[in-house]
Amino acid sequence: MNRESLKEKAAKRAVEYVKSGMRVGIGTGSTVKYVILELARKIKAGELENIVGVATSIESENLARENGIKTEDLDERKLDVAIDGADEIAPNLDLIKGAGGAFLREKLVELQANEFIVVADETKLVNHLGEKMPVPVEMVRFGFEATMKRLESFGKPVLRRKNNEIILTDNGNFIADLKFENGDPEKPAAELKQLSGVVETGLFLGMAKRAIVAFENEIKEFTR
Ligand code: A5P
Repeated sequence: MNRESLKEKAAKRAVEYVKSGMRVGIGTGSTVKYVILELARKIKAGELENIVGVATSIESENLARENGIKTEDLDERKLDVAIDGADEIAPNLDLIKGAGGAFLREKLVELQANEFIVVADETKLVNHLGEKMPVPVEMVRFGFEATMKRLESFGKPVLRRKNNEIILTDNGNFIADLKFENGDPEKPAAELKQLSGVVETGLFLGMAKRAIVAFENEIKEFTR
């Protein structure tokens, strides 16, 4: 089975947790695309009613709306559930997120959810965070070179670019991808967050309650 089918299978299983009347946090990325399409299918088929989506990126908001899902901005109200992908999933369901650059809004939305469900194919499982991926760090543009210098005390930061252009997040900020060469990235998570110039990190610790992971022959659900 190819990776796309695995992502789709995990996404469809996750949408089974969405019930009529729920406010749903909608993540970002290639796995969540299938979540959005499945939600839209169920709404069109009359299997789900009165669903409100709260999206974590402009991209997901557009895709949701184009497919007929009503969306609202995040406010003080709780969300019943949020569904999102991840770049790395540790055995305790701590995550690295943000390869798609949407992690600041993802964290804000997912913190408001009564249940945060991660969807992924098996390639995202790791023994410890930082095994394959750097930790994305969103930082304000003003003085970003100085912020990156401060990040060097944690690892090796690389400014995120696409086709040589520095990438801007939906919030108008830059991202540094911080590779931890020594030690676990969880330990300095709080310190990193306190650095002046840093807005948020892609470390999602203690947040996910359930991970739905598609393997070649089965879908496994892990809970915290
Ligand atoms: C977006 O910023 C990320 O946090 C995504 O949720 C994460 O990168 C997973 O994306 P894929 O489902 O495309 O792998």
